[in-house]
Amino acid sequence: MSDKIGLVILAAGKGTRLKLDIPKALSPIQGRTLIDYVISAASGLQDRLQQKIPISIVVGHMREAIEKHVSERYSGDQISCVVQKEQLGTADALKSYFAANKQHWNYEYTFILCADTPLVTSELLHTLAKEVLENGLDAVAATFKAADPTGYGRIIRGAKGFKIVEQKDASLQELQVDEVNSGIYVAKTSYIKGMLDKIDSNNKAGEFYLTDMFKQDANVSPVMFEDSNYFLGVNNLVQLEEVTSIVQKQKIQQLQLGGVIFLNSSSCYVEDEVEIAPGTTVYPNVTLMGKTKIGRDCIVETGVVIKSSSVADNCRILAHSNIEDSIIESHCSVGPSARLRPGTVLGIECKIGNFVEIKKSILSPGVKVSHLSYVGDAEIGKNTNIGCGFITCNYDGAKKHKTIIGDNSFIGSDCQTVAPVRIGNNAYVGSGSTINKDVPDGAFAIARERQVTKEGMASRFLKTNKD
Ligand code: UD1
Ligand code: CA
Repeated sequence: MSDKIGLVILAAGKGTRLKLDIPKALSPIQGRTLIDYVISAASGLQDRLQQKIPISIVVGHMREAIEKHVSERYSGDQISCVVQKEQLGTADALKSYFAANKQHWNYEYTFILCADTPLVTSELLHTLAKEVLENGLDAVAATFKAADPTGYGRIIRGAKGFKIVEQKDASLQELQVDEVNSGIYVAKTSYIKGMLDKIDSNNKAGEFYLTDMFKQDANVSPVMFEDSNYFLGVNNLVQLEEVTSIVQKQKIQQLQLGGVIFLNSSSCYVEDEVEIAPGTTVYPNVTLMGKTKIGRDCIVETGVVIKSSSVADNCRILAHSNIEDSIIESHCSVGPSARLRPGTVLGIECKIGNFVEIKKSILSPGVKVSHLSYVGDAEIGKNTNIGCGFITCNYDGAKKHKTIIGDNSFIGSDCQTVAPVRIGNNAYVGSGSTINKDVPDGAFAIARERQVTKEGMASRFLKTNKD
Protein backbone atom coordinates (compact mmCIF):
# COMPACT_ATOMS: atom_id res chain seq x y z
CA MET A 1 0.00 0.00 0.00
CA SER A 2 1.12 3.53 -0.60
CA ASP A 3 2.90 5.13 2.31
CA LYS A 4 0.17 7.76 2.54
CA ILE A 5 -2.84 6.40 4.38
CA GLY A 6 -5.22 8.19 6.71
CA LEU A 7 -7.50 6.63 9.30
CA VAL A 8 -10.55 8.28 10.82
CA ILE A 9 -12.60 7.11 13.76
CA LEU A 10 -16.06 8.68 13.91
CA ALA A 11 -16.98 9.48 17.50
CA ALA A 12 -19.00 12.70 17.40
CA GLY A 13 -22.47 11.17 17.63
CA LYS A 14 -24.76 11.76 20.60
CA GLY A 15 -25.14 8.12 21.59
CA THR A 16 -28.61 8.98 22.93
CA ARG A 17 -29.70 5.35 23.00
CA LEU A 18 -27.08 4.62 25.66
CA LYS A 19 -28.82 6.97 28.14
CA LEU A 20 -25.55 7.63 29.96
CA ASP A 21 -24.03 10.91 30.97
CA ILE A 22 -20.76 10.12 29.19
CA PRO A 23 -19.92 10.11 25.49
CA LYS A 24 -20.59 6.72 23.91
CA ALA A 25 -16.95 6.38 22.85
CA LEU A 26 -15.97 6.32 26.53
CA SER A 27 -18.40 3.60 27.60
CA PRO A 28 -16.48 1.15 29.75
CA ILE A 29 -15.50 -2.31 28.59
CA GLN A 30 -13.29 -4.38 30.84
CA GLY A 31 -11.45 -1.42 32.31
CA ARG A 32 -10.90 0.29 28.96
CA THR A 33 -13.32 2.27 26.83
CA LEU A 34 -15.03 1.54 23.51
CA ILE A 35 -12.71 3.81 21.58
CA ASP A 36 -9.56 2.23 23.06
CA TYR A 37 -10.48 -1.04 21.37
CA VAL A 38 -10.92 0.67 18.02
CA ILE A 39 -7.62 2.51 18.48
CA SER A 40 -5.91 -0.82 19.28
CA ALA A 41 -7.14 -2.27 16.00
CA ALA A 42 -5.98 0.84 14.14
CA SER A 43 -2.55 0.69 15.80
CA GLY A 44 -2.29 -3.00 14.97
CA LEU A 45 -2.94 -2.15 11.32
CA GLN A 46 0.15 0.06 11.34
CA ASP A 47 2.21 -2.96 12.42
CA ARG A 48 0.68 -5.19 9.76
CA LEU A 49 1.26 -2.65 6.98
CA GLN A 50 4.58 -1.63 8.55
CA GLN A 51 3.89 2.03 8.15
CA LYS A 52 2.81 4.91 10.27
CA ILE A 53 -0.83 5.85 9.82
CA PRO A 54 -2.04 9.09 11.39
CA ILE A 55 -5.18 8.36 13.40
CA SER A 56 -7.82 11.10 13.66
CA ILE A 57 -10.86 10.97 15.87
CA VAL A 58 -13.86 13.07 14.93
CA VAL A 59 -15.38 14.38 18.15
CA GLY A 60 -18.41 16.56 18.82
CA HIS A 61 -20.91 15.59 21.51
CA MET A 62 -19.10 15.87 24.90
CA ARG A 63 -15.88 16.24 23.01
CA GLU A 64 -13.83 17.54 25.95
CA ALA A 65 -14.13 14.21 27.76
CA ILE A 66 -12.94 12.26 24.72
CA GLU A 67 -10.11 14.73 24.03
CA LYS A 68 -8.97 14.44 27.65
CA HIS A 69 -9.06 10.64 27.55
CA VAL A 70 -7.11 10.50 24.29
CA SER A 71 -4.48 13.03 25.40
CA GLU A 72 -3.95 11.20 28.70
CA ARG A 73 -3.61 7.80 27.13
CA TYR A 74 -1.93 8.36 23.78
CA SER A 75 0.82 10.52 22.39
CA GLY A 76 -0.19 13.50 20.28
CA ASP A 77 1.84 12.53 17.22
CA GLN A 78 0.05 9.19 17.23
CA ILE A 79 -3.55 10.37 17.50
CA SER A 80 -5.33 13.68 17.14
CA CYS A 81 -8.92 14.84 17.54
CA VAL A 82 -10.86 17.00 15.10
CA VAL A 83 -14.17 18.66 15.85
CA GLN A 84 -17.46 18.20 14.04
CA LYS A 85 -19.42 21.26 15.14
CA GLU A 86 -22.91 19.91 14.57
CA GLN A 87 -23.81 16.27 14.32
CA LEU A 88 -25.30 16.38 10.85
CA GLY A 89 -24.46 12.80 9.94
CA THR A 90 -21.55 10.52 9.17
CA ALA A 91 -20.74 12.18 5.82
CA ASP A 92 -20.55 15.54 7.53
CA ALA A 93 -18.27 14.01 10.19
CA LEU A 94 -15.87 12.94 7.44
CA LYS A 95 -16.00 16.44 5.96
CA SER A 96 -14.91 17.82 9.32
CA TYR A 97 -11.94 15.46 9.27
CA PHE A 98 -10.75 16.64 5.87
CA ALA A 99 -11.46 20.29 6.72
CA ALA A 100 -9.09 19.99 9.67
CA ASN A 101 -6.50 17.91 7.77
CA LYS A 102 -6.43 19.36 4.25
CA GLN A 103 -3.15 17.59 3.48
CA HIS A 104 -4.92 14.25 4.00
CA TRP A 105 -6.78 14.83 0.73
CA ASN A 106 -3.48 13.82 -0.87
CA TYR A 107 -3.35 10.49 0.93
CA GLU A 108 -4.01 7.63 -1.41
CA TYR A 109 -6.37 5.68 0.87
CA THR A 110 -8.57 6.49 3.84
CA PHE A 111 -9.85 4.01 6.42
CA ILE A 112 -13.08 4.95 8.15
CA LEU A 113 -14.09 3.31 11.42
CA CYS A 114 -16.77 3.96 14.02
CA ALA A 115 -16.00 4.37 17.72
CA ASP A 116 -18.96 2.15 18.61
CA THR A 117 -17.73 -1.00 16.87
CA PRO A 118 -15.06 -2.13 19.34
CA LEU A 119 -14.51 -5.73 18.27
CA VAL A 120 -12.99 -4.83 14.92
CA THR A 121 -9.47 -6.27 14.56
CA SER A 122 -6.36 -5.16 12.73
CA GLU A 123 -6.50 -8.40 10.75
CA LEU A 124 -9.95 -7.49 9.48
CA LEU A 125 -8.78 -4.01 8.48
CA HIS A 126 -5.83 -5.58 6.70
CA THR A 127 -8.16 -7.91 4.77
CA LEU A 128 -10.23 -4.90 3.66
CA ALA A 129 -7.09 -3.11 2.50
CA LYS A 130 -6.03 -6.14 0.45
CA GLU A 131 -9.49 -6.35 -1.18
CA VAL A 132 -9.28 -2.74 -2.32
CA LEU A 133 -5.76 -3.15 -3.67
CA GLU A 134 -5.96 -6.55 -5.28
CA ASN A 135 -9.26 -5.84 -7.03
CA GLY A 136 -8.40 -2.25 -7.98
CA LEU A 137 -11.56 -0.98 -6.27
CA ASP A 138 -12.45 2.60 -5.36
CA ALA A 139 -14.05 1.70 -2.04
CA VAL A 140 -15.18 -1.23 0.08
CA ALA A 141 -17.47 -1.64 3.06
CA ALA A 142 -17.13 -4.51 5.52
CA THR A 143 -20.46 -6.34 5.68
CA PHE A 144 -21.92 -9.36 7.43
CA LYS A 145 -25.12 -11.36 7.65
CA ALA A 146 -27.04 -10.31 10.74
CA ALA A 147 -29.35 -12.74 12.53
CA ASP A 148 -31.42 -9.65 13.32
CA PRO A 149 -30.65 -6.88 10.81
CA THR A 150 -32.86 -4.31 12.58
CA GLY A 151 -31.14 -0.94 12.81
CA TYR A 152 -28.33 -1.68 10.38
CA GLY A 153 -27.99 -0.27 6.85
CA ARG A 154 -28.95 -2.94 4.29
CA ILE A 155 -26.54 -3.88 1.51
CA ILE A 156 -28.30 -3.77 -1.86
CA ARG A 157 -25.95 -5.26 -4.42
CA GLY A 158 -26.15 -4.01 -8.02
CA ALA A 159 -24.72 -5.40 -11.26
CA LYS A 160 -21.40 -3.66 -10.58
CA GLY A 161 -21.36 -1.94 -7.22
CA PHE A 162 -23.79 -1.72 -4.32
CA LYS A 163 -25.71 0.79 -2.27
CA ILE A 164 -26.58 1.00 1.40
CA VAL A 165 -30.11 1.72 2.49
CA GLU A 166 -30.63 2.75 6.10
CA GLN A 167 -33.36 1.03 8.11
CA LYS A 168 -35.52 4.17 8.20
CA ASP A 169 -35.42 4.58 4.42
CA ALA A 170 -35.71 0.94 3.38
CA SER A 171 -38.67 -0.50 1.48
CA LEU A 172 -40.34 -3.65 2.79
CA GLN A 173 -38.39 -5.67 0.27
CA GLU A 174 -35.08 -4.05 1.24
CA LEU A 175 -35.79 -4.72 4.90
CA GLN A 176 -35.74 -8.46 4.09
CA VAL A 177 -32.05 -8.25 3.16
CA ASP A 178 -29.90 -9.68 5.93
CA GLU A 179 -26.50 -8.55 4.61
CA VAL A 180 -25.78 -5.36 6.53
CA ASN A 181 -23.26 -2.56 6.75
CA SER A 182 -20.69 -2.64 9.56
CA GLY A 183 -19.79 1.05 9.24
CA ILE A 184 -16.16 0.17 8.46
CA TYR A 185 -14.84 1.33 5.10
CA VAL A 186 -11.65 1.71 3.06
CA ALA A 187 -11.73 4.04 0.08
CA LYS A 188 -9.43 5.81 -2.34
CA THR A 189 -9.29 9.35 -1.02
CA SER A 190 -9.85 10.69 -4.53
CA TYR A 191 -13.10 8.69 -4.68
CA ILE A 192 -14.28 10.14 -1.37
CA LYS A 193 -13.42 13.62 -2.64
CA GLY A 194 -15.55 13.08 -5.72
CA MET A 195 -18.52 11.80 -3.71
CA LEU A 196 -18.57 13.75 -0.47
CA ASP A 197 -19.96 17.04 -1.80
CA LYS A 198 -22.67 15.23 -3.75
CA ILE A 199 -24.17 13.62 -0.66
CA ASP A 200 -27.39 15.33 0.42
CA SER A 201 -29.63 14.94 3.45
CA ASN A 202 -32.69 13.83 1.52
CA ASN A 203 -33.64 10.96 3.77
CA LYS A 204 -35.94 10.20 6.70
CA ALA A 205 -33.30 11.19 9.28
CA GLY A 206 -32.43 14.43 7.46
CA GLU A 207 -28.75 13.48 7.89
CA PHE A 208 -25.80 13.44 5.53
CA TYR A 209 -25.19 9.69 5.27
CA LEU A 210 -21.66 8.56 4.46
CA THR A 211 -23.22 5.35 3.25
CA ASP A 212 -24.43 7.30 0.19
CA MET A 213 -20.90 7.30 -1.23
CA PHE A 214 -21.54 3.74 -2.35
CA LYS A 215 -23.40 3.44 -5.67
CA GLN A 216 -24.66 0.47 -7.61
CA ASP A 217 -22.89 1.66 -10.76
CA ALA A 218 -19.59 2.52 -9.09
CA ASN A 219 -16.37 0.54 -8.79
CA VAL A 220 -17.13 -0.40 -5.20
CA SER A 221 -17.79 -3.68 -3.44
CA PRO A 222 -19.03 -5.07 -0.15
CA VAL A 223 -16.58 -7.41 1.57
CA MET A 224 -18.61 -9.90 3.54
CA PHE A 225 -17.17 -11.48 6.70
CA GLU A 226 -18.48 -14.75 8.15
CA ASP A 227 -18.09 -13.84 11.79
CA SER A 228 -20.60 -11.16 12.73
CA ASN A 229 -19.09 -10.77 16.21
CA TYR A 230 -16.41 -8.42 14.82
CA PHE A 231 -19.09 -5.89 14.04
CA LEU A 232 -21.26 -5.84 17.10
CA GLY A 233 -22.19 -2.20 17.38
CA VAL A 234 -22.81 -0.66 20.78
CA ASN A 235 -25.89 1.54 20.64
CA ASN A 236 -27.42 0.59 23.99
CA LEU A 237 -26.43 -1.02 27.28
CA VAL A 238 -27.72 -4.46 26.25
CA GLN A 239 -25.23 -4.45 23.38
CA LEU A 240 -22.53 -3.07 25.70
CA GLU A 241 -22.91 -6.10 27.96
CA GLU A 242 -22.93 -8.44 24.96
CA VAL A 243 -19.64 -7.00 23.73
CA THR A 244 -18.19 -7.02 27.24
CA SER A 245 -18.94 -10.70 27.65
CA ILE A 246 -17.24 -11.51 24.34
CA VAL A 247 -14.13 -9.54 25.31
CA GLN A 248 -14.24 -11.22 28.74
CA LYS A 249 -14.38 -14.70 27.23
CA GLN A 250 -11.42 -13.91 24.99
CA LYS A 251 -9.44 -12.59 27.95
CA ILE A 252 -10.14 -15.61 30.15
CA GLN A 253 -9.30 -18.02 27.33
CA GLN A 254 -6.02 -16.23 26.73
CA LEU A 255 -5.19 -16.60 30.45
CA GLN A 256 -6.23 -20.26 30.51
CA LEU A 257 -4.08 -21.03 27.48
CA GLY A 258 -1.27 -19.28 29.34
CA GLY A 259 -1.56 -21.69 32.28
CA VAL A 260 -4.02 -20.03 34.67
CA ILE A 261 -6.57 -22.32 36.32
CA PHE A 262 -10.10 -20.97 36.71
CA LEU A 263 -12.45 -23.07 38.82
CA ASN A 264 -15.47 -21.29 37.36
CA SER A 265 -14.45 -18.62 34.89
CA SER A 266 -17.96 -17.55 33.92
CA SER A 267 -18.50 -16.15 37.42
CA CYS A 268 -15.29 -14.06 37.31
CA TYR A 269 -14.71 -10.57 35.97
CA VAL A 270 -11.19 -10.00 34.69
CA GLU A 271 -10.30 -6.71 33.00
CA ASP A 272 -8.26 -6.46 29.88
CA GLU A 273 -4.98 -5.24 31.34
CA VAL A 274 -4.80 -7.89 34.06
CA GLU A 275 -1.82 -10.25 33.89
CA ILE A 276 -1.66 -13.62 35.66
CA ALA A 277 1.30 -16.00 35.55
CA PRO A 278 0.95 -19.76 35.00
CA GLY A 279 0.10 -22.10 37.85
CA THR A 280 -2.16 -19.65 39.62
CA THR A 281 -5.66 -20.78 40.55
CA VAL A 282 -8.61 -18.43 40.52
CA TYR A 283 -11.69 -19.54 42.47
CA PRO A 284 -15.26 -18.53 41.52
CA ASN A 285 -16.61 -14.97 41.81
CA VAL A 286 -13.27 -13.19 41.62
CA THR A 287 -12.97 -9.62 40.29
CA LEU A 288 -9.59 -8.49 38.94
CA MET A 289 -9.38 -4.93 37.68
CA GLY A 290 -7.03 -2.34 36.22
CA LYS A 291 -3.36 -3.12 35.74
CA THR A 292 -3.40 -5.94 38.28
CA LYS A 293 -0.52 -8.38 38.03
CA ILE A 294 -0.55 -11.76 39.76
CA GLY A 295 2.50 -14.02 39.85
CA ARG A 296 2.96 -17.77 39.59
CA ASP A 297 1.37 -20.44 41.75
CA CYS A 298 -0.89 -18.09 43.67
CA ILE A 299 -4.34 -18.92 44.95
CA VAL A 300 -7.05 -16.31 44.68
CA GLU A 301 -10.08 -17.50 46.59
CA THR A 302 -13.77 -16.84 46.20
CA GLY A 303 -15.10 -13.30 46.33
CA VAL A 304 -11.71 -11.59 46.15
CA VAL A 305 -11.58 -8.14 44.51
CA ILE A 306 -8.16 -6.84 43.39
CA LYS A 307 -7.73 -3.45 41.70
CA SER A 308 -4.52 -2.10 40.16
CA SER A 309 -2.25 -4.12 42.44
CA SER A 310 0.62 -6.54 42.10
CA VAL A 311 0.78 -9.87 43.82
CA ALA A 312 4.07 -11.76 43.50
CA ASP A 313 4.57 -15.55 43.26
CA ASN A 314 3.20 -18.09 45.72
CA CYS A 315 0.76 -15.82 47.50
CA ARG A 316 -2.56 -16.88 48.88
CA ILE A 317 -5.37 -14.36 48.83
CA LEU A 318 -8.13 -15.85 50.92
CA ALA A 319 -11.85 -15.46 50.42
CA HIS A 320 -13.55 -12.08 50.26
CA SER A 321 -10.46 -9.91 50.56
CA ASN A 322 -10.39 -6.51 48.90
CA ILE A 323 -7.08 -5.12 47.62
CA GLU A 324 -6.48 -1.81 45.87
CA ASP A 325 -3.32 -0.05 44.64
CA SER A 326 -1.14 -2.32 46.74
CA ILE A 327 2.05 -4.30 46.29
CA ILE A 328 2.31 -7.78 47.75
CA GLU A 329 5.65 -9.57 47.61
CA SER A 330 5.96 -13.34 47.31
CA HIS A 331 4.78 -15.99 49.80
CA CYS A 332 2.28 -13.70 51.54
CA SER A 333 -1.08 -14.74 52.86
CA VAL A 334 -3.91 -12.20 52.96
CA GLY A 335 -7.40 -12.70 54.37
CA PRO A 336 -9.99 -14.09 54.54
CA SER A 337 -11.90 -10.81 54.55
CA ALA A 338 -8.87 -8.54 54.69
CA ARG A 339 -8.77 -5.07 53.17
CA LEU A 340 -5.59 -3.61 51.72
CA ARG A 341 -6.18 0.01 50.80
CA PRO A 342 -4.03 2.15 48.47
CA GLY A 343 -0.37 2.46 49.38
CA THR A 344 -0.04 -0.89 51.16
CA VAL A 345 3.23 -2.73 50.61
CA LEU A 346 3.71 -6.22 52.05
CA GLY A 347 7.23 -7.67 52.05
CA ILE A 348 7.78 -11.37 51.48
CA GLU A 349 6.14 -13.85 53.83
CA CYS A 350 3.80 -11.38 55.50
CA LYS A 351 0.60 -12.71 56.96
CA ILE A 352 -2.49 -10.53 57.07
CA GLY A 353 -5.42 -12.27 58.69
CA ASN A 354 -9.17 -11.87 58.85
CA PHE A 355 -10.80 -8.47 59.35
CA VAL A 356 -7.53 -6.59 59.08
CA GLU A 357 -7.43 -3.24 57.27
CA ILE A 358 -4.13 -1.80 56.09
CA LYS A 359 -3.71 1.61 54.47
CA LYS A 360 -0.65 3.45 53.13
CA SER A 361 1.71 1.30 55.17
CA ILE A 362 4.91 -0.58 54.52
CA LEU A 363 5.20 -3.95 56.20
CA SER A 364 8.66 -5.52 56.03
CA PRO A 365 9.19 -9.22 55.33
CA GLY A 366 7.69 -11.64 57.81
CA VAL A 367 5.33 -9.21 59.55
CA LYS A 368 2.16 -10.77 60.94
CA VAL A 369 -1.08 -8.92 61.57
CA SER A 370 -3.31 -11.89 62.03
CA HIS A 371 -6.66 -10.67 63.32
CA LEU A 372 -9.03 -7.71 63.54
CA SER A 373 -6.67 -4.74 63.25
CA TYR A 374 -6.30 -1.35 61.58
CA VAL A 375 -2.84 -0.34 60.38
CA GLY A 376 -2.73 3.08 58.71
CA ASP A 377 0.22 5.35 57.83
CA ALA A 378 2.63 2.90 59.45
CA GLU A 379 5.99 1.30 58.86
CA ILE A 380 6.56 -2.05 60.51
CA GLY A 381 9.97 -3.72 60.64
CA LYS A 382 10.72 -7.29 59.71
CA ASN A 383 9.31 -10.27 61.61
CA THR A 384 7.33 -8.08 63.97
CA ASN A 385 4.16 -9.66 65.29
CA ILE A 386 1.06 -7.56 65.83
CA GLY A 387 -1.53 -9.15 68.10
CA CYS A 388 -5.29 -9.24 67.70
CA GLY A 389 -7.29 -6.03 67.80
CA PHE A 390 -4.44 -3.56 67.20
CA ILE A 391 -5.22 -0.01 66.07
CA THR A 392 -2.97 2.75 64.79
CA CYS A 393 -4.73 5.93 65.93
CA ASN A 394 -3.35 7.83 62.96
CA TYR A 395 -5.84 10.69 62.64
CA ASP A 396 -6.23 13.59 65.03
CA GLY A 397 -9.28 15.00 63.30
CA ALA A 398 -7.23 17.24 61.03
CA LYS A 399 -4.02 15.45 60.08
CA LYS A 400 -2.70 11.91 59.61
CA HIS A 401 0.36 10.87 61.63
CA LYS A 402 2.85 8.04 61.35
CA THR A 403 3.42 4.99 63.47
CA ILE A 404 6.84 3.39 63.16
CA ILE A 405 7.55 -0.02 64.67
CA GLY A 406 10.98 -1.67 64.38
CA ASP A 407 12.16 -5.20 63.61
CA ASN A 408 11.44 -8.33 65.66
CA SER A 409 9.08 -6.55 68.03
CA PHE A 410 5.94 -7.92 69.61
CA ILE A 411 2.77 -5.92 70.09
CA GLY A 412 0.28 -7.67 72.37
CA SER A 413 -3.41 -7.93 71.64
CA ASP A 414 -5.77 -4.98 71.96
CA CYS A 415 -3.11 -2.27 71.74
CA GLN A 416 -3.37 1.19 70.24
CA THR A 417 -0.56 3.44 69.10
CA VAL A 418 -1.42 7.14 69.21
CA ALA A 419 0.56 8.57 66.30
CA PRO A 420 3.03 10.08 65.79
CA VAL A 421 4.85 7.44 67.76
CA ARG A 422 7.84 5.18 67.35
CA ILE A 423 8.46 1.72 68.80
CA GLY A 424 12.00 0.39 68.43
CA ASN A 425 13.51 -2.96 67.44
CA ASN A 426 13.11 -6.00 69.72
CA ALA A 427 10.54 -4.14 71.80
CA TYR A 428 7.59 -5.72 73.60
CA VAL A 429 4.30 -4.01 74.24
CA GLY A 430 1.99 -5.67 76.75
CA SER A 431 -1.62 -6.45 75.81
CA GLY A 432 -4.24 -3.77 76.25
CA SER A 433 -1.77 -0.88 76.08
CA THR A 434 -2.39 2.54 74.64
CA ILE A 435 1.05 3.70 73.56
CA ASN A 436 1.46 7.45 73.10
CA LYS A 437 5.17 7.78 73.94
CA ASP A 438 8.08 6.34 72.01
CA VAL A 439 9.33 2.91 73.10
CA PRO A 440 13.11 2.46 72.64
CA ASP A 441 14.87 -0.61 71.24
CA GLY A 442 14.68 -3.62 73.51
CA ALA A 443 12.18 -2.00 75.93
CA PHE A 444 9.05 -3.49 77.46
CA ALA A 445 6.11 -1.08 77.60
CA ILE A 446 2.77 -1.56 79.25
CA ALA A 447 0.08 1.09 79.61
CA ARG A 448 -3.03 -0.19 81.36
CA GLU A 449 -4.71 -0.10 84.77
CA ARG A 450 -3.49 -2.69 87.26
CA GLN A 451 -5.98 -5.45 87.93
CA VAL A 452 -7.93 -5.40 91.20
CA THR A 453 -9.40 -8.76 92.37
CA LYS A 454 -11.87 -8.90 95.29
CA GLU A 455 -12.63 -12.38 96.63
CA GLY A 456 -16.32 -13.36 96.82
CA MET A 457 -17.61 -10.07 95.46
CA ALA A 458 -18.90 -11.38 92.11
CA SER A 459 -22.33 -12.22 93.53
CA ARG A 460 -23.02 -8.49 93.85
CA PHE A 461 -22.85 -8.13 90.12
CA LEU A 462 -24.06 -11.50 88.79
CA LYS A 463 -27.67 -11.30 87.75
CA THR A 464 -29.87 -14.39 87.76
CA ASN A 465 -33.38 -15.07 86.43
CA LYS A 466 -34.70 -14.86 89.98
CA ASP A 467 -33.81 -11.14 90.30
C1 UD1 B 1 -24.31 3.36 11.01
C2 UD1 B 1 -24.51 3.21 9.50
C3 UD1 B 1 -25.26 1.92 9.21
C4 UD1 B 1 -24.50 0.75 9.82
C5 UD1 B 1 -24.21 0.96 11.31
C6 UD1 B 1 -23.26 -0.09 11.82
C7 UD1 B 1 -24.70 5.49 8.60
C8 UD1 B 1 -25.60 6.51 8.05
N1 UD1 B 1 -25.25 4.34 8.99
O1 UD1 B 1 -25.60 3.46 11.60
O2 UD1 B 1 -25.40 1.72 7.82
O3 UD1 B 1 -25.22 -0.45 9.60
O4 UD1 B 1 -23.60 2.23 11.51
O5 UD1 B 1 -23.06 -0.03 13.20
O6 UD1 B 1 -23.52 5.72 8.67
N2 UD1 B 1 -21.20 10.02 14.05
C9 UD1 B 1 -20.49 11.21 13.95
N3 UD1 B 1 -21.14 12.34 13.55
C10 UD1 B 1 -22.46 12.35 13.22
C11 UD1 B 1 -23.18 11.13 13.32
C12 UD1 B 1 -22.53 9.99 13.73
O7 UD1 B 1 -19.29 11.25 14.23
O8 UD1 B 1 -22.95 13.42 12.84
C13 UD1 B 1 -20.48 8.81 14.48
C14 UD1 B 1 -21.08 8.17 15.73
O9 UD1 B 1 -20.43 8.69 16.90
C15 UD1 B 1 -20.78 6.70 15.55
C16 UD1 B 1 -20.73 6.55 14.03
O10 UD1 B 1 -20.61 7.84 13.48
O11 UD1 B 1 -19.51 6.33 16.07
C17 UD1 B 1 -22.01 5.88 13.50
O12 UD1 B 1 -23.13 6.64 13.91
P1 UD1 B 1 -24.44 5.96 14.52
O13 UD1 B 1 -25.41 7.02 14.82
O14 UD1 B 1 -24.08 5.01 15.58
O15 UD1 B 1 -24.94 5.18 13.23
P2 UD1 B 1 -25.84 3.89 13.16
O16 UD1 B 1 -27.25 4.29 13.28
O17 UD1 B 1 -25.33 2.85 14.06
CA1 CA C 1 -23.83 2.71 15.69
